[in-house]
Amino acid sequence: MKETNTNLIHEATGAAAVSPSGTSDDPVRAVPERKVFVKTYGCQMNVYDSQRMTDSLAQQGYVTTQTPEDADLVLLNTCHIREKASEKLYSALGRLRKMKDERAADGRDMLIGVAGCVAQAEGEEIIRRAPSVDLVIGPQTYHRLPQALTRVGRGEKVVETEYAIEDKFEHLPAPGKEQVRSRGVTAFLTVQEGCDKFCTFCVVPYTRGSEVSRPVSQIVAEAERLAAAGVRELTLLGQNVNAWHGQGAGGREWGLGELLFRLAEIPGIARLRYTTSHPRDMDDALIAAHRDLDQLMPYLHLPVQAGSDRILKAMNRRHTGADYLRLVERIRAARPDIALSGDFIVGFPGETEEDFQATMQLVRDVTYAQAYSFKYSPRPGTPGADLPDHVEEAVKDDRLQRLQALLTEQQHAFQRGMVGQSMDVLLEKPGRLPGQMVGRSPWLLPVIVGENPGEIGDIITVRIISTGTNSLVAEAVAAKRQADGAPQALDGASPGKVLSGFPSGLA
Ligand code: SAH
Ligand code: SF4
Ligand code: F3S
Repeated sequence: MKETNTNLIHEATGAAAVSPSGTSDDPVRAVPERKVFVKTYGCQMNVYDSQRMTDSLAQQGYVTTQTPEDADLVLLNTCHIREKASEKLYSALGRLRKMKDERAADGRDMLIGVAGCVAQAEGEEIIRRAPSVDLVIGPQTYHRLPQALTRVGRGEKVVETEYAIEDKFEHLPAPGKEQVRSRGVTAFLTVQEGCDKFCTFCVVPYTRGSEVSRPVSQIVAEAERLAAAGVRELTLLGQNVNAWHGQGAGGREWGLGELLFRLAEIPGIARLRYTTSHPRDMDDALIAAHRDLDQLMPYLHLPVQAGSDRILKAMNRRHTGADYLRLVERIRAARPDIALSGDFIVGFPGETEEDFQATMQLVRDVTYAQAYSFKYSPRPGTPGADLPDHVEEAVKDDRLQRLQALLTEQQHAFQRGMVGQSMDVLLEKPGRLPGQMVGRSPWLLPVIVGENPGEIGDIITVRIISTGTNSLVAEAVAAKRQADGAPQALDGASPGKVLSGFPSGLA
């Protein structure tokens, strides 16, 4: 049985993109060019971290490569959330050891670094198990990467997993404009890290530490830089993003709702999203933002994990099924067209068929547009792992299959409901066929639009013609937006184009 990936927990493949240092807006340094291959596992926060590490390495003269074979440094940014996720590290390290040996036979070095949540959880154990690893660096110390590499260069094996006192975000270099552009018109921005919730199944509070919120000024400055480089859509990230409570001017504490309103003022930022939220932290101001803030997209990832109150209690989720349903009602009252997505765990210790049926009922009551579901995976050091009555693997498989069948049915019904509708799409990249572009609907679904509908970065109005498994097919419509303050078509815009496009020279 294959578990579905979550949009929080997906495997982000490929190397993080970075342009060579020495581009127009990057500092030019007289350092020899070296190549780094970055492989990112896990959630969007790891994707963001990989980008920031790549930015830092660019200043050290590293350019990215898409293949590990020709890399001077291979950096694996790892995930520890489920057993399968962390196992991936060791199989990758087995392959890399061979490559490292082959390069050594050619008289060339290949450094291997392990970052991310497995690095934090296992520390020097990684080097014990895989002696070819040169560097282990935890998520709280990425700003120390240059110094750590200098030490590695002197032949040391380095393990950096202390929680740093200083703020890593203040020390990590910002990407240059070219780097931002190469990453596209949508960007992640981590506003919050860590988690204080301690759900009994989850490693995050141990791998990412306690909750830290970045201050408003830092976030706004980063968002402005991204917008100036052509980013149109920002997704604010946090392991518990709606628990964000950063300091504003004068030391006053802000909530996420207020922050979203502030970010919406930045010229160029047309769309805002945030992920991942905990039901307990959806406060009134945030719900009001969904009602009042046009740029806030009508899509919310709001994991519930289970429907049975007994299991929710054992998971230490701090909410009941009824609390969650009431919350969903309030959110839908504020924003009737909002699409919900969720995460589910089946087979938590002690889960009976009756408990599982409560999860199925909750799914029927809520109706999700999208969801991610997993078999419970006992994680060392978490309280759940020590609970009695672990559920048999075959039972977990069976429950997962039934839950996924229901969730998939709901997802398809949601997508079918889009056919015939008109909606705005932010164009993100060329499609597979000539003239095609791929963008995203407000509800996050990829939309394929044919016949040269506009430039990357344009927001165009389309009509949905049909639906595929995980995407929609649309045609551009030459409609101006209603005169309600929403942007109007530019003179000379191609059909359907309503907002100015990506900075010239790039699209
Ligand atoms: N902060 C988010 C989720 C973080 S982890 C939240 O509070 O919901 C992402 C998802 O992975 C979780 O929502 C959960 O569904 C799943 N997950 C976490 N630990 C797990 C485990 N031990 N076994 C199976 N799934 C797990
Ligand atoms: Fe993990 Fe729970 Fe924190 Fe989410 S809220 S990161 S599931 S401990
Ligand atoms: Fe995985 Fe760490 Fe993210 S455990 S899900 S990479 S916070």
